Amino acid sequence: MIVRRIKCLRSLGIRYNSSHYVTTPIFYVNAAPHIGHLYSAVIADAHCRYQRIRNPEKNVRLCTGTDEHGTKIQQAASLHGIPVAKYCDDISERYREVFKSAHILPDDFIRTTEERHKRAVAHFWRTLHSRGHIYSAAYSGWYCVSDETFLTDSQLRLDEASGTRYSLESGHPVEWTEETNYMFRLSQFQDDVRHWVKQEARIRPAKFEKILLDTLSEPLPDVSVSRPSNRVHWAIPVPDDDSQTVYVWLDALVNYLSSVGYPNEGYSAHWPPAQQVIGKDILKFHGIYWPAFLMAAGLEPPGQLHVHSHWTVDGQKMSKSKHNVVDPVQAARQYTMEGLRYFLLREGVAHSDGNYSHVKAQRILNSELADTLGNLLSRACAPSLNPGQIYPSSDAEHLADLLRTLDAAKRLQESLLQLSERCASHYESNHFHLVADTAMATLHAANNFFESSKPWTLKAGATGSNQPRLETIIAMTMDALRLCGIVLQPIIPQLATRLLDKLSVPTAQRGWHYLAESFATEPVNLGGSRQLDGQTSALLFQRILEEKPAKEEQKTQPAKRSKSKKRERRETMS
Ligand code: ME8
Ligand code: MG
Repeated sequence: MIVRRIKCLRSLGIRYNSSHYVTTPIFYVNAAPHIGHLYSAVIADAHCRYQRIRNPEKNVRLCTGTDEHGTKIQQAASLHGIPVAKYCDDISERYREVFKSAHILPDDFIRTTEERHKRAVAHFWRTLHSRGHIYSAAYSGWYCVSDETFLTDSQLRLDEASGTRYSLESGHPVEWTEETNYMFRLSQFQDDVRHWVKQEARIRPAKFEKILLDTLSEPLPDVSVSRPSNRVHWAIPVPDDDSQTVYVWLDALVNYLSSVGYPNEGYSAHWPPAQQVIGKDILKFHGIYWPAFLMAAGLEPPGQLHVHSHWTVDGQKMSKSKHNVVDPVQAARQYTMEGLRYFLLREGVAHSDGNYSHVKAQRILNSELADTLGNLLSRACAPSLNPGQIYPSSDAEHLADLLRTLDAAKRLQESLLQLSERCASHYESNHFHLVADTAMATLHAANNFFESSKPWTLKAGATGSNQPRLETIIAMTMDALRLCGIVLQPIIPQLATRLLDKLSVPTAQRGWHYLAESFATEPVNLGGSRQLDGQTSALLFQRILEEKPAKEEQKTQPAKRSKSKKRERRETMS
């Protein structure tokens, strides 16, 4: 019945909405991208990649881009003595390049200076206006150019000595501004926004829901949505009033609509976004203004906001205006882009800030990607153990015997049996660090298994009857590597691809569904034994050998270092 209805809708040209539309913030082009920006994009990309391997039927769509209007951009361009349009082109291109090099694959990269976006903003403005949600008024208040927003007294700090006021949140100075503006009746949406915020799993993590509800417990003031054109001219003009330009935040938020073709027919196939990834610095705009604007325009607000915290350097938010940024291109030279992706998703947690440290990155990448993952692949592919260079199938009898007699084999099996469910639940909540944790725990179990089963004692040349047992051990190890490779695809797409390529896993068998197929569930490897891919190196991730700065050296954990030393020694022995 339902199927027939969907078919019928399709024949009428009405698409059943199986879309999963995901967005990142669009980034200001007032300076080059840093790893904070990359982080938002990597989260959204990993989320989409998971959705795609989990459910290939879903129409997943990722949009990112750049936010190019406003005083901040005007000022940055003039500081560099470059025409503002050219300045925007250059920086926007750098975002595009960095994301590309990090293998972030957006379906759309939108720029707010594009015509399609200007049309969408004009249409959106007219809709708000014709529905009676915009009015004209004299407005005065403390304006923070850097934050592009008016602030109330409680959001300010007064420096008694200089008489200057600063934004409490960002630390940037504010200036007294009096002007005629168009106002949006935000006050009328207080209850609707509160209702929206309170829906189950609307705002993630929950602490950000609480922050929004605290803000919403006070009466919401109406908000100014235009600026005089003579003050802010690098902006979209207010329709039918050249003396005013559209407030950059209203302009910027509408990008999410422009990208799917609003107001043209067909945009609703993707509307509303399933998930919008944002940093906590722009929570108020996305958690209060945005749903209110949408409701006012008669559109559905987003399904979920995924809010993440900040990368800090020495306890300070990493930010262009604080000049303490880490350049992703530079960092990738040290760790590779895959290494950087892994570090960001492994170390970053949404609910609290993370401190960026070179020592930490080096330690994690060496111990997890080089030792735990990379080394195990090299050992399983070592020509001395695996002269035929195969991914063997396991022998039912030896498999049963290993599972019966060897604790480490049993533990690996248990770990593999839980892998799919655990990682799916972590991915569903964007807990990438827990996915990495779970995969690493499985790989530890695989390393332990490999070590305890002592395959080198069964090496060819000993006695022929040992061969099925040796192959079974290699098959079980490769099963663990294959399953972890499938699980890690959204986090480290290139490395995971190389791992799966090496193991000759057909592309069609890399979906989530295939986590159910391994020695852990079937006595015999399904496809039978296959040849490893000779074109792909078994060396997955090179250890980062660069010398640590002397001061930071002392902060490393001796226990971890001796462990990897031990493993290196073991390597030379086996
Ligand atoms: O706010 N740690 O753009 P923006 C983690 N154009 N993430 C960080 C970060 C840090 N230290 N610094 C920045 C704007 N980010 C507006 C957005 S959306 C309609 C308009 C990330 O260039 C984080 O996602 O200042 C933050 O929200 C975003 O970059 C802000 O980038
Ligand atoms: Mg910012």
